Amino acid sequence: MKTKLFFTFASLLASVSALAQPQLGKDSVDDVIAAMTLEEKVEMLHGSRMRMAEPKFPGAAGFTTAIPRLGIPSVHMADGPHRLVISPSRAFDSNVYNTTEIPSELTIASSFDTDAAFKAGELIGQEVSDYGLDVLLAPGVNLIRNTLGGRNGEYYSEDPVHAGLMASAFVNGIQSRNVGVALKHYAVNNQETNRNANDAIVSQRALRELYLRNFEIAVKRGDPWSVMTSYNKVNGEYVCESRFFCEDVLRSEWGYKGLVMSDWNAGRDAVKSIAAGNDLLMPGQDKQREAILEAARNGTLPMEYIDLSVKRVLEFVLKSNSFKNFDYPNETDLKAHSKIAREIAANSLVLLKNDNDALPMTDVRNVALYGTTSYDIIPAGMGFGATGHGYYCVSLVEGLRKAGYDVEKSLIGPYQAHIAAENKKNYPNGMPPFSITAPTRADEFVPTAETLAANAAANDMAIITLGRANGEGADRRKEHFYLSEKESELIKVVSGAYHDAGKKVVVLLNIVSAIETASWKDSVDGILCVFQPGCETGNAVADVLSGKVNPSGRLPQTFQVNYGDAACDNDFPCDYVFDMSAFTRAYALSAKDAAESARRQVEPELTKNVDYTTYTEDIYVGYRYFSTFGKKVSYPFGFGLSYTGFDYELVSSSMDERNCSVTVKVTNVGSKAGRDVLQVYVRAPKGRLEKPSRELKAFAKTKTLAPGESQELTLGWETSLNASYNEKKAEWELAKGVYSFLVCKDAESAPLLEVSRKLR
Ligand code: BGC
Repeated sequence: MKTKLFFTFASLLASVSALAQPQLGKDSVDDVIAAMTLEEKVEMLHGSRMRMAEPKFPGAAGFTTAIPRLGIPSVHMADGPHRLVISPSRAFDSNVYNTTEIPSELTIASSFDTDAAFKAGELIGQEVSDYGLDVLLAPGVNLIRNTLGGRNGEYYSEDPVHAGLMASAFVNGIQSRNVGVALKHYAVNNQETNRNANDAIVSQRALRELYLRNFEIAVKRGDPWSVMTSYNKVNGEYVCESRFFCEDVLRSEWGYKGLVMSDWNAGRDAVKSIAAGNDLLMPGQDKQREAILEAARNGTLPMEYIDLSVKRVLEFVLKSNSFKNFDYPNETDLKAHSKIAREIAANSLVLLKNDNDALPMTDVRNVALYGTTSYDIIPAGMGFGATGHGYYCVSLVEGLRKAGYDVEKSLIGPYQAHIAAENKKNYPNGMPPFSITAPTRADEFVPTAETLAANAAANDMAIITLGRANGEGADRRKEHFYLSEKESELIKVVSGAYHDAGKKVVVLLNIVSAIETASWKDSVDGILCVFQPGCETGNAVADVLSGKVNPSGRLPQTFQVNYGDAACDNDFPCDYVFDMSAFTRAYALSAKDAAESARRQVEPELTKNVDYTTYTEDIYVGYRYFSTFGKKVSYPFGFGLSYTGFDYELVSSSMDERNCSVTVKVTNVGSKAGRDVLQVYVRAPKGRLEKPSRELKAFAKTKTLAPGESQELTLGWETSLNASYNEKKAEWELAKGVYSFLVCKDAESAPLLEVSRKLR
């Protein structure tokens, strides 16, 4: 009896004290923080992936720590940008959790259509919400500095305005579904070689005008729930440990109020990261927790810093579905999403060449496919951020067949056998189920002259697909920019055989980022750059080849003639082979240090482009260099053809202290319906600082215009976007004088329209 009474009293006390404890959402965040022990506060500052045996969402990248007594749940985060990355199956139920592989960021960027980026975000945000997660670790908005960058496919553009506007539309799309993003990888994350330690040495001017501007636009226009700091150092300091990046620029200058989290296992010094304003260390390590606790106890890490970061984590938790106990359906409308993915992909393909109306394939019925990639299409990149392949991918053969074409059957078997033999040679124990870097692809296969002659007689056209895969943790090498001997041979012999038979040859570029095109483009009739179009690749490509969709994509990066032509090419690890074995997913800080010291034994000196990379090209990245210094390119930034033609009329333009704008009337003067893209570049007056000859300030895309139809487009930007950063004075400088607004088809060709406005 006595014991029973005691237990009743004890449980009463426990529930009273539980009731007395502040609860997140009911009580103020400050009250909740005040009720936390130091240990609990520190738990909030790192993820707890490694401490849950059975995660709620297998395959998701990480989650924050829950403290049930204070009503704090975990927030669940999964990778993107191309797909919500969760395991399709779970040990604890029999459901299937498939997610849609949308086109890569670089592919969507080619649409030059912010509505398409918004729709892509909306689609993927819906899947995040439908499956009950909280945050997609995307988008990446870093600049494409070098054509060999390993993660170029996960980024948008070589131009910061283009990248920033596309990224903010994607962020707005995702966050419209009440889930969050982690805008990544802040900042200057432009190479994968030695990515955990590389130091990017970059001027303040290039930093401000290029490498931060993309983030600034995305932060200000997208208001992301969180920003993910990058692995690399900038000017000697890890970004996640830098107060300059995390506080001074992001928060004080740009007014960002959200959470800052680290990339997975980034940086070396957990205490320095928290002191810098990098609130959350992901995915979280015991060593980090111990270091922060010790620094808090001995006073080297002030409690205000800890409380401030805990507050930001709790505000992040408050927004989440997990906190709101959202009753998610646990299934998503994959069919509807495939349809949207196909539309976005078709809207993004870039027609680079179309001699004598080789395309669309209106008079074609029988088509022969060459190139191993024609039979092993690359829908997406590899790696955690790039996500590997989704649950299905429409092959090129399937897409063309569904569009009504007969695909040459006699080539399919030999190509498939060749690819299987090559894979066996490269991977005797079977293809890896998942790989962070791109697996070695089958070498090219060149059919015999007899086969080609027979194919050319039996078919109306040839398609050759060239492929380049990518992944995380490694950059491409110079040799991947160029065609292999067999690829060049293939183009030569296929073009020879088909042209002899009076037939046309079209090349598809299924690539992560630009490759060499100048030496062979004259041998073929058409070139369609498809980048990595996602699960609907075959359908989207067939839509454009057949003319069902008129191509309207534009290049988000320059296709240079040779490697070495771009101003940054010598300051990039184009030949260096980095030992990836040191980089496994699960490395701990100590393992990272061990890997580093092992390398030091082989390479005692700091290695250029590996340990540090000097951005000697300064502000001359991409077209800024080629157009200013008159260097020839194969295809310029912004380039893309259509099956119809357009005419332009200047309606109005304006410039005052705050805003600039140009209004243009676009008319479809061709015979097919289609969409057009307008790009406005600015030529600034000669001020005290030198400037590129033109810089993109705005772009816009028409709706589908029927032949004869017109649309007025107004392209506007803030006048401050015309300013340059004076690093001696550490301030922006807006030169007075005449500004020319150049309405252009791309970054190289003469303007379609030009108008000058004076700033007094
Ligand atoms: C990548 C991030 C990714 C994270 C979580 C890292 O290796 O750099 O882009 O979000 O892993 O998987």
